[in-house]
Amino acid sequence: MTEKDAIVARRSVRNFSDSPLCKPFFVALSKMIAELKPLTADAMFQVKVIGHDDLSKVIASSAVPNAPYFMLFYGEECPEYAQNIGFIAEKIVLYLTAQGVSSLFLGSLRAKEPVEDGLRYTLAIAFGKSDTPFRTAGKETRKPLEKLFTGLITDKTRALMDAARLAPSAMNLQPWFFELDLGQIRVFRRKALLPMAHLDLMQRIDIGICLANILTADDSWTAKRLTALDAPSKYGIPEYVLTRPFVHHTG
Ligand SMILES: Cc1cc2nc3c(=O)[nH]c(=O)nc-3n(C[C@H](O)[C@H](O)[C@H](O)COP(=O)(O)O)c2cc1C
Repeated sequence: MTEKDAIVARRSVRNFSDSPLCKPFFVALSKMIAELKPLTADAMFQVKVIGHDDLSKVIASSAVPNAPYFMLFYGEECPEYAQNIGFIAEKIVLYLTAQGVSSLFLGSLRAKEPVEDGLRYTLAIAFGKSDTPFRTAGKETRKPLEKLFTGLITDKTRALMDAARLAPSAMNLQPWFFELDLGQIRVFRRKALLPMAHLDLMQRIDIGICLANILTADDSWTAKRLTALDAPSKYGIPEYVLTRPFVHHTG
């Protein structure tokens, strides 16, 4: 399975087997993580991989899945930090899926030390082998494609919107919306209905996850920062905010 195939195959797994993953797997995983580039090129982040038995040393929450391994994400609190963490986390999840390893995003866990070495704890992922099969196309619970965008869709952008649609999100709220223009996709995040800081954080992470799916589906697109030249939406999408990065065609 490739990482592109993993966009469809990934699903949240809540029942893991305790079969251990081998040492070469962890060596390759560390190498993959070391080579990851966040959306914001200079944003610092750290990913810690720990076994189930060590989780209680760092995490305060007691309700955790029975996964043999966990990954903890810490990030520098720059403006796009949550989005960066989501981007990196989904890249890793797609890699795990392509290796036949199941996972679950966990936004609900609280760290005992919220800040370590200047980096804020943001997210956890449970992972390991599972008997739960990977997902087959069409079995996902998601909004229909036509509810995700405004503007003219082409064959190329349809493939990207399909990848975006399949992204996992906190409580499956799918807070993204897209404006399609010639050679450009502008990415919007739904405004929170209630001022809930944790949900806001999760939805920023969701946008990063969604961008990781888009850029994995077609790497000839790159995420760029918005500049003052990028005028507000010409379609007017009041319930959404334009997020800083947008995706722009380079080819
Ligand atoms: C940022 C984020 C946080 C999440 N937190 C939790 C969590 O704390 N507990 C949980 O059971 N699922 C959690 N999920 C999983 C979502 O509920 C799941 O991705 C969504 O329902 C879509 O289902 P799927 O992943 O099987 O496609 C989280 C997902 C994301 C992206």
